[in-house]
Amino acid sequence: MAASLKGRSFLTLFEYTPAEIEHLLDFAAKLKAMKKAGEKHHYCKDKNIALIFEKTSTRTRCAFEVAAADLGMHSTYLDPKASQIGKKESIRDTARVLGSMYDGIEYRGFEQEIVEELAAYAGVPVWNGLTNEFHPTQVLADLLTIREHFGSLKDRHLVFLGDARYNMANSLMVGCAKMGMHFTACAPEAYFPNEELVERCQNIAKRTGAILEFKTNPMEAVKNADVLYTDVWVSMGEPDEVWAERIRDLSPYRVTTALMEEADVDTVFMHCLPAFHDLGTEIGRQIHEKFGIDCMEVEDAVFESKASIVFQEAENRMHTIKAVMAATLGGK
Ligand code: CP
Ligand code: NVA
Repeated sequence: MAASLKGRSFLTLFEYTPAEIEHLLDFAAKLKAMKKAGEKHHYCKDKNIALIFEKTSTRTRCAFEVAAADLGMHSTYLDPKASQIGKKESIRDTARVLGSMYDGIEYRGFEQEIVEELAAYAGVPVWNGLTNEFHPTQVLADLLTIREHFGSLKDRHLVFLGDARYNMANSLMVGCAKMGMHFTACAPEAYFPNEELVERCQNIAKRTGAILEFKTNPMEAVKNADVLYTDVWVSMGEPDEVWAERIRDLSPYRVTTALMEEADVDTVFMHCLPAFHDLGTEIGRQIHEKFGIDCMEVEDAVFESKASIVFQEAENRMHTIKAVMAATLGGK
């Protein structure tokens, strides 16, 4: 198994089989245990990786940097504002330059085609650290977190509430389809994932036994759910003008205590983070002043409740990204 992952990029999760995803989760769990036990794991000693971030980040950047250090690697952070990427040099040329110096490249940015082009020309593994369409390293961490919490993935029911057209819902749908889970997107119809993607996932679901559903009524959708999952209503790179319509359209899909109670006694709350759950952020305060609300996609009481496993989920970003890098670089 490990040999079959060497040299491969990690772009959407589509390109990985359920057995390969399970292997990455097992490997991440092992790396997590080693880290907790203080056991060194310099599996990629003296390799070099480049981290390109065209959008901001806390978790993903830190996860890549800490994981790289733990694996004995060196990393270079590339801020496109301070490099030639995109402005003076095409992605194709950047890929060939970086591929000649680095053993692997992480990319966070806009269209999925950009990371695909990078992977096509770099000649080294490229890892998608978030595009408009997909966020696969996040979903790997989410799967590990769900497996840690419930002991298994098969048939677990994850309900995503909010903007189900964007990277998080898309990638969760792919991950759930692959792992034979039950995925429900709950949103106004205009916010459902695109049909082509749904069809692709439905085809996978036929083989894995996954169930994919699309509902508009939150109280109905969350019944017997294992996980209620949400994401910000306005994603990075979207214009400020969309806030008003998003707040209007998505407020009924906020994860509230009432919704958690409607789900199940054991239901957990998950969020990729960052989250607007209180007035502790600049944007949160601006929205409060303009629209009079003090949280957006999730109530603070849910975010801070015992059912919330968001920080375990955030920590798992590092362990799973480490597994992806070590496996694809052939470190173990
Ligand atoms: N969840 C996530 O990708 O967080 P960052 O934007 O902080 O990297
Ligand atoms: N949908 C969000 C995810 C952040 C991790 C965004 O793209 O901004």
